[in-house]
Order: sequence, then C-alpha cells, then structure tokens
Amino acid sequence: MITIHDLNALRAQVESWRRGGNVAFVPTMGSLHAGHLSLVRAARLLADRVVVSIFVNPMQFGAGEDFASYPRTLERDAKMLEGEGTDLLFAPSVETMYPKPQDQQTRVEVPVLSDLLCGASRPGHFVGVATVVCKLFNMVQPDLALFGKKDFQQLMVIRRMADDLAMPVRVMGVDTMREPDGLAMSSRNAYLGEQERAIAPVLYRVLSGLAHKLREGSDDYAGLQAQAARELDENGLRTDYVAIRRAADLLEPDAGEAQLVVLAAAYLGKARLIDNIEVAR
Ligand code: PAJ
Repeated sequence: MITIHDLNALRAQVESWRRGGNVAFVPTMGSLHAGHLSLVRAARLLADRVVVSIFVNPMQFGAGEDFASYPRTLERDAKMLEGEGTDLLFAPSVETMYPKPQDQQTRVEVPVLSDLLCGASRPGHFVGVATVVCKLFNMVQPDLALFGKKDFQQLMVIRRMADDLAMPVRVMGVDTMREPDGLAMSSRNAYLGEQERAIAPVLYRVLSGLAHKLREGSDDYAGLQAQAARELDENGLRTDYVAIRRAADLLEPDAGEAQLVVLAAAYLGKARLIDNIEVAR
C-alpha cells in the first residue's frame, strides 16, 4: 500500500492505474472499524485498484461539535487498510484540502435533502460533506465510490450531488455493519461509557420494532414515530428525531407508500447516535 499526502503524487498514481483498469474510492475520516473495512472489501471485489482517503473534514463539523476531539489513529488505520488489500491511502493535511480560509472556499449545496433530519440539527453539515466529497472525487477521479447506508441521508446527498452535477462516478451504498447486539458500528461509539454502551443497542431495537409494524401494514406514521421516540427517552437516550420517510427522497410518505426508511438520531452521553432501517412492503 502506498500512502500519499500530496495532491500531485495522488493524481500521477491514479492516472497510471486508470489506464489499465478501474479505480474504486472509499472516503473516510479514519478511526477505522469493521464497518469501514466492509466498504473496502466491497470495493476490492468491484475494482482493480482501491483508494481510501482519511481526512477529518473541519467543514462538516459545527461550532461546539467534536472536530478537535475526533479520534485520530492514522498508523493503526494504515495497518488495517493494508490488511484489506488497499492500494493507496490518501491522507491530506487541512492545508492541502483547504488552502484558502473557509469563508472563501467554493461550496457545494444539495438543497432540500441537506436541510432535513440530521441537516436540521446540524446546520451546514451536509454542505461540508458535499463540498469535501466533491473535492475528493476531483482529486482521486474514481470510477466508483462506496458509502455506508449507516449514514443514509449522507449517501442520498452524495448521490444527488453526483447526479445533479453530472459527475462521472458511480455512487454505491453498502449495508450497515453492526455489533452482535445490533448497535451500528461507528467511530463515535468510542465516546460511550460502559453504562451508555449497554443502553446503546436500544436504538436499533426500537427502530426494528417500528420497521416490523410498518411491514405489517401500519400507516399511523405520526403515532409510530411518537411511540418510538418515547421508548428511546424512557430507556435513557435523548431523542433528536425518529422519522418515517420515503426511501426515494426522504420526504414525508403518503399512506400505503411501499418504499420507506425509518431513521433516528439520539443523544447518549457525549455521543450522538444515528441509525436507520429500510422497509419495503
Ligand atoms: P466516516 O464517518 O469515517 O465514514 C466513512 C464511510 O464509512 C461512510 O460512507 C460511512 O457511511 C461508512 N460507515 C460508517 N460506519 C459504518 C457501518 N457501521 N457500516 C457500514 N458503513 C459504515 O462519513 C464520513 O466519514 C464523512 O462524512 C465523509 C463521507 C468521509 C466525508 O468527510
């Protein structure tokens, strides 16, 4: 595995690979776990070369969020990526990604989708995500890029961006990797204390119950959402939102909608946990 920090070296390497085959790209913020590695493994199966980036993107963190304390474990991450057969690790500095002050940086905004759900609680977050992923796509120039369904709204924002701006990259979603007790793997699970970690699987359990009721045909979306939020709060989480949405665009579904996704965010100690389940009925 080659590790590259510099843009020119990255371009030269990927250009030579693209002449002989296709290149898959997995963008990450590091602090890698088995969920990230499942994206790398899927990429390995789909492409001749696999590029992974590690960059903790300041633009997608709000004031008072965990940019400074976000875990940074580059050496360990590099070993894990090498073990999965990654060809190239791109780990740029903040200066390489953002040579100009943030208020002078061109931004990519995906309207509507970016303002819902997590976007409502984290203003500016998805502009930061879309902007950095757009830059990374232009730097790496991959044929395909892989994102986790764990961050379902993020995956949709990226898909929409690539589509609206005619980016020549295929965006693919990969299923969520979970701990044995159901908790979705996340770098932020490291923020959970022992007691909080014991409570955390409630999020997936409550969403699974809700998904089950939808599959059985219930259309009382408001009632189901309220009940699920109550269950989360009663179990020691602090609900940000529980939402039943149309899978196609994350807007509110009509009764009888066949393709749904149930999404939730809840605070637990220092962590903000998110999860979702797709429901086809
Ligand atoms: P990060 O949180 O490091 O996640 C990198 C990728 O791993 C994302 O596509 C995310 O959805 C996926 N992922 C995380 N946990 C997962 C799990 N349990 N199962 C499957 N996939 C999982 O998401 C970001 O970084 C950033 O916003 C980024 C896209 C890199 C832009 O900065």
